[in-house]
Amino acid sequence: MRRRTVLLLLALTIVFGASLLWPSPDDPVERYPPPRPYKAKVEPRPKIIVPPKEAKGVVPDGWRAFTPPNSYLLPPYDFEPTLAQRLPCVDQWLSRGKPCEMTEKGRIDAVWTWVNGSEPVLEDTREDAVAMVAATLKPMGSWQPPVLGSRQTHFRTHGEMINSMRSVFSSMPSEVVRKYILLTADVAAEDTAELRLGSVPTWMDTNHSTSLQILHHSDVFRVPRSSLPQIEVEGHGLEWRDRNVPSFNSLAIESQLANIPESAPTILYLNDDSFLLKSVSAADFDSPLYGPVFRIQFDLGVNSRAPGSIRMGVDKEGEWPALEYTNWLLDQRFGKRRRRYLHHVAKVLSAPTLREVAAIWADELATTGETRFRGQGPQVNLVFLTTWYTIEKHRESLLYSFIMLRADANADGVFSTAERQVLTMGLAPEIPVALREDGSLHYVELNLHRAGLDPPKETVYEWLSYDGYPLIKTVRTDAGAHCTMDVDACFAPGTARDVFTRVAFEQPECGDCLIAHLISRSGSEGLSAFLPPPGAPRTPSAPKLPLAKRWQDVDFSAGMGREFAVDNIQRYTYVAGSSPMQFLSLRRPWDTTYLPNKTSPVAFLAVNDDLRDLRDIEQSEPPIRKWYADRWGQVRAWWEKRVD
Ligand SMILES: *[C@@H]1O[C@H](CO)[C@@H](O)[C@H](O)[C@H]1NC(C)=O
Ligand SMILES: *[C@@H]1O[C@H](CO)[C@@H](O)[C@H](O)[C@H]1NC(C)=O
Ligand SMILES: *[C@@H]1O[C@H](CO)[C@@H](O)[C@H](O)[C@H]1NC(C)=O
Repeated sequence: MRRRTVLLLLALTIVFGASLLWPSPDDPVERYPPPRPYKAKVEPRPKIIVPPKEAKGVVPDGWRAFTPPNSYLLPPYDFEPTLAQRLPCVDQWLSRGKPCEMTEKGRIDAVWTWVNGSEPVLEDTREDAVAMVAATLKPMGSWQPPVLGSRQTHFRTHGEMINSMRSVFSSMPSEVVRKYILLTADVAAEDTAELRLGSVPTWMDTNHSTSLQILHHSDVFRVPRSSLPQIEVEGHGLEWRDRNVPSFNSLAIESQLANIPESAPTILYLNDDSFLLKSVSAADFDSPLYGPVFRIQFDLGVNSRAPGSIRMGVDKEGEWPALEYTNWLLDQRFGKRRRRYLHHVAKVLSAPTLREVAAIWADELATTGETRFRGQGPQVNLVFLTTWYTIEKHRESLLYSFIMLRADANADGVFSTAERQVLTMGLAPEIPVALREDGSLHYVELNLHRAGLDPPKETVYEWLSYDGYPLIKTVRTDAGAHCTMDVDACFAPGTARDVFTRVAFEQPECGDCLIAHLISRSGSEGLSAFLPPPGAPRTPSAPKLPLAKRWQDVDFSAGMGREFAVDNIQRYTYVAGSSPMQFLSLRRPWDTTYLPNKTSPVAFLAVNDDLRDLRDIEQSEPPIRKWYADRWGQVRAWWEKRVD
């Protein structure tokens, strides 16, 4: 049954996601062809000087006056537990797979980033920003290089925002959503330095202050002290923020998501082009047992690219340069890997992990925040970084627990003969991989039920972090899947730290196979074979390893004992899930016929507006609006102004 569902979903993804829209699953260059020239004639627009300019007077519709925080420095990192770590019975759950009732259900903040593409004041600001960037580009002879990422199409809107919010409102149970958070642009007011004017959708009633939070770029853009000149930090910090706000680059805006104040432990992050089409439950996004749900496209690899190295033929304004640079950052911390693309739909982030990542790569994120348009300099994709950081930290935590805490039982940093036996017990060059497909996956619904949680409605959990590392390379034979490792090379003599870093990062195939081996030794549930025995020494201080950008710089001697091991693994628990989803790129008016109808099983939708031609844009407008009206025309969310 399950396999059939998975196959059906796979077929759907292939039909919808791949064959219709993306010609080749392997070649990102082909999948993201360079844009066709923009054919529309752009009429010169008279310079518009309209309100809002007077924050102290009457603020016009579509704007609100607000006082941004006077802090612009990134605050010091403060360790917070993830939702999964709050499970009261972490040890019993991790070691034996037995859940307990979770009283605190964990609620989700839905976060949108939005720019009103038809707002003349923002358009003026954008043009000023384009001119500023253009002035920094050296002309080549008589040719003035264009400002990448500044094309108008990135900012055009058809009423996506109201419908994206309605879609979440009608798909998610109200008790699951803690807050709706909208992050939008803001501009300076002319009559005062303290107040700024933030853009708000004209249909939004901003009076609901508790469950609706409107934030503007000035509220979240933060720079670490290390990115500023040593002297006159204050002036430079304010100058940094004012220079980069408002931003017109989605990657730059996303790079500041960790600075949303007091978010829920789980964030559902949407662009205004993302929609939920079916009723869902919290477990479609996160649960205290299994962690956040990532939607990973395993058949699409992401290469690594060091900053400064350029690949010819790539669309510099597309998402690939940032993904490849981000994967390179992950390589420096966890070893070289071809990690996988994330499906282009609404994304799940664990807020504490997001903030941990933002603390590690603070300088890179500040640089990203400074790039006002796509394609200017190295940019981090923070969502990709956080997702794969979680997956890699979980793998690291498993190996750390086994090698450093269980095998090196007396924590003296070296392996005695007896300890070495623990390390290599039962290891053969060829390790059968027990994928536990019918083991722990089988119990997902039952375990969620036991914990008092609803099962996911539109998501199949395809891979649990309890089943090991998902990128494990296996060889399938008639007898099942096998993993091969050179046991002597992997466990060659050295200190405990040497062996751990070799197995975990330098020769990752060693770690992958070791994990597979220990999963099968743990039986059908739990991770008992990884854990030091109960009663081993307790952690002396904070239950975390120091943060660093390179594994060579991490002090791995900090963790101790079972309690630490269990907590450290559970912190990074996650699920790779699969849902009926569709990514629709509108290139021609005809493409609007692919918008899913009400009989379609699609639950997660993203619609990219790639229309370039003015006539195409005009022709596509009515079918898109009709599709919205059919779906959510009757929905009135509580934040919408009453229209009499
Ligand atoms: C965007 O700005 C334009 C111009 O001010 C306004 O007419 C329109 O209603 C705004 N859209 C939204 C969704 O607020
Ligand atoms: C919001 O509250 C203010 C003051 O209480 C009121 O004047 C205004 O009409 C309210 N706005 C809406 C859309 O209800
Ligand atoms: C809905 O879409 C599916 C596939 O896209 C199509 O086969 C079906 O005929 C459509 N149903 C209606 C009622 O239009």
